[in-house]
Amino acid sequence: MNVSSAIQRRRTIRRFKNQFVPESMLIKFVDAARLAPSAGNSQPLEYITVASASGCEKIFPHLKWARFIGGGDTPAEDKKPAAYIVVLINRNIAAKGGGHESGAAVQNILLSAIEEGYGACWLRSVDRAAIKEAFGIAGHCDVDSVVALGKPAESPITELAGDDTKYWRDDRGLLHVPKRSIDTILHKEKF
Ligand SMILES: Cc1cc2nc3c(=O)[nH]c(=O)nc-3n(C[C@H](O)[C@H](O)[C@H](O)COP(=O)(O)O)c2cc1C
Repeated sequence: MNVSSAIQRRRTIRRFKNQFVPESMLIKFVDAARLAPSAGNSQPLEYITVASASGCEKIFPHLKWARFIGGGDTPAEDKKPAAYIVVLINRNIAAKGGGHESGAAVQNILLSAIEEGYGACWLRSVDRAAIKEAFGIAGHCDVDSVVALGKPAESPITELAGDDTKYWRDDRGLLHVPKRSIDTILHKEKF
């Protein structure tokens, strides 16, 4: 799959099949993150991979799903993610910031996941203190994000946004993701 096609096909997935994610896949995704750009090539990010049932149970309660969907959009028991990558910022390397690096690295993870037939959700509404405690994360590392992963059990629809960009589920449970049009966001030569 080429990059353009992965970019077009990537949508956030919040419903997963009950299918184990092999460690080799998680290593591939972290390796894609490892090669992402960083300010001054500082590379402040580190990662925890989680694929065991007990590890997944430990992290799941600390995640908030899709705040724009009334009542939230937490996956049902049989649609939970099969693996996670916790993205950490090493504060000995970057005393402040790290968010831009995390953005680039996570996007690499998301696109690599698509290429391998996986779906993912990038979560930043997470209980950082609880995750830090649950996984024994050293004091000099902050939890930035969590990427939830697994084989997708839904196929969200990309559509053109009007005034409202809020994503929504229809009566059949299909997720609609409105994106602003190129005409709305592109300014040629001048604003
Ligand atoms: C920085 C950032 C934080 C996000 N945090 C969450 C989150 O905590 N929970 C969640 O369900 N989705 C989260 N998302 C996923 C967005 O809701 C999703 O990207 C958006 O609805 C657009 O859908 P798309 O990814 O399919 O383009 C986050 C996305 C980004 C970029």
